[in-house]
Amino acid sequence: MIRPILRYGADALHAAAAPVDDFGTDLQKLIDDMVETMYAAAGVGLAAPQVGVASRLFVTDTSFGRSIGDLLILVNPEIFEQEGTEREEEGCLSLPGFTASVSRPARIVLTGFDREGTRVRLEGEGLRARVFQHELDHLDGTLFVNRLHSIRRDLIFRRVRKLQRTGKW
Ligand code: NI
Repeated sequence: MIRPILRYGADALHAAAAPVDDFGTDLQKLIDDMVETMYAAAGVGLAAPQVGVASRLFVTDTSFGRSIGDLLILVNPEIFEQEGTEREEEGCLSLPGFTASVSRPARIVLTGFDREGTRVRLEGEGLRARVFQHELDHLDGTLFVNRLHSIRRDLIFRRVRKLQRTGKW
């Protein structure tokens, strides 16, 4: 089932999510829905708070579903190691229509659990590293705009407020 994706301003997007401790049917259904919702929105990643669930998990597929094996699910992710810096253009399904250049570590290793609750370690470079960090941010209530310098950030916020006022958000 495709779930609605919350947009900037929704409370769930701006609060820290809680660790998952139950890998039962509710979580399995949530993961299936998140994967379906991510593909339907043509996104490369989706975190649970974006569909209004305050749980620490995300799904990602940097191939947009074209390559089997690129679909990754990570529950209770934590940073194991990171290195380098890379600045690239970034967007978010919760901020449609906006992109900005964000500086992040170029390589990252995360630990966490797969959907069955088995401990896993995932490594990412390039786009995958960026998505990992972007989705990890969502679990702490941080959007990519929160990582921008104030001028660029305020410009985006002003445009969002204008869209909100005119009922287009
Ligand atoms: Ni996002």
